[in-house]
Amino acid sequence: MPTIVEIADLKKLAQKRVPKMFFDYADSGSWTESTYRANESDFQKIMLRQRVAVDMTNRNLKTQLVGQNISMPVAIAPTGLAGMQHADGEMLAAQACEEAGIPYTLSTMSICSIEDVAAATSQPFWFQLYVMKDRGFVNSLIDRAKAAGCSALVLTFDLQILGQRHKDIRNQLSAPPRLTPKHLLQMATRPGWCLKMAGTKRHDFRNIVGHAPGVTDLSSLGAWTAEQFDPKLSWEDIEWIKERWGGPLILKGILDPDDAAIAAQSGADALIVSNHGGRQLDGARSSIQALPSIVDKVGDQIEIHLDGGIRSGQDVLKALCMGAKGVYIGRPYLYGLGALGKPGVSKVLEIIRNELDITMALCGERDVTQLGLHNIDPASEFI
Ligand code: FNR
Repeated sequence: MPTIVEIADLKKLAQKRVPKMFFDYADSGSWTESTYRANESDFQKIMLRQRVAVDMTNRNLKTQLVGQNISMPVAIAPTGLAGMQHADGEMLAAQACEEAGIPYTLSTMSICSIEDVAAATSQPFWFQLYVMKDRGFVNSLIDRAKAAGCSALVLTFDLQILGQRHKDIRNQLSAPPRLTPKHLLQMATRPGWCLKMAGTKRHDFRNIVGHAPGVTDLSSLGAWTAEQFDPKLSWEDIEWIKERWGGPLILKGILDPDDAAIAAQSGADALIVSNHGGRQLDGARSSIQALPSIVDKVGDQIEIHLDGGIRSGQDVLKALCMGAKGVYIGRPYLYGLGALGKPGVSKVLEIIRNELDITMALCGERDVTQLGLHNIDPASEFI
């Protein structure tokens, strides 16, 4: 992969290899996409302090998230339909994470099932839970994640109602994807992708089909999905989910300090500062802009993670300096997956690891756990 030097190279390659409707599904935000764009561009408003003549031997990127040892402070974010970027996508991405020593988070809305990913890996992965109206099904998802040995539950709190993405509507994307002549044409221009998909049986929302009551095949899934996200989700739900799960619980989708204060008292072990990658409330703050006020409010009460807009190891470092203990990447790993499958995900992780390591050294730091506001130029925005 000599020409692949940064995440943007994998994005370009994925755009060439993945059918348009699925590439757009990943590469889109809600409405005007202003929050999606701000997630990325706001990182440029933070400047780092360059320090020199510090001994840079024996650098450390290892840390812990929710008490688990990881090789760098980066995890893969849960993303629905990852298996449509590449055949067996969730299994391949989980394998790449296992090799890299970082957590992989499987989405409720995945193509490969919890059991598929467990069979393809030997280390525990994390599972992301959407709270559906059918609480019996939610319980069964928690039980299946436990049985598969998942080591943390990521509970998504910012999707009681689905945000609207113009690109998906224009592409007539549905769950499950319903094939129109337009889609068939898009797929005909991507023969490599089609061949790989044809070679696997795992492209049928196996987490849900065959498990949720009444959802016996793909044709019954669409109506079920549209109807099942629960608008009544409340802070009280955390208690029964935590009790049933019994392991580390991470609350995803906190953007406001007042919500962070409630989250810190909820019994969760960590919260993720996140706006769902700009896919829910367009016009909301970027994640990195929201981070400082949340750190100020609850940084001494709960572990704080962040996702949204991380496109380089420099971005990772900036989030850590501003108080996140770890970050998640969503689209970058999807680009890697769409571009090259498992080697593409590994390449994304390698790029981010190298960039993080070099940036840390150029800031005059040797240990990722010692980064802080002292590494940020005071002339930066948001601090
Ligand atoms: C997501 N995200 C998401 N979150 C979640 O809790 N469950 C899910 O199923 C999904 N699905 C999903 C699909 C796609 C295509 C994307 C891009 C994102 C949100 C995701 O976990 C994360 O918050 C963002 O992706 C982080 O932003 P970046 O890294 O993509 O900029």
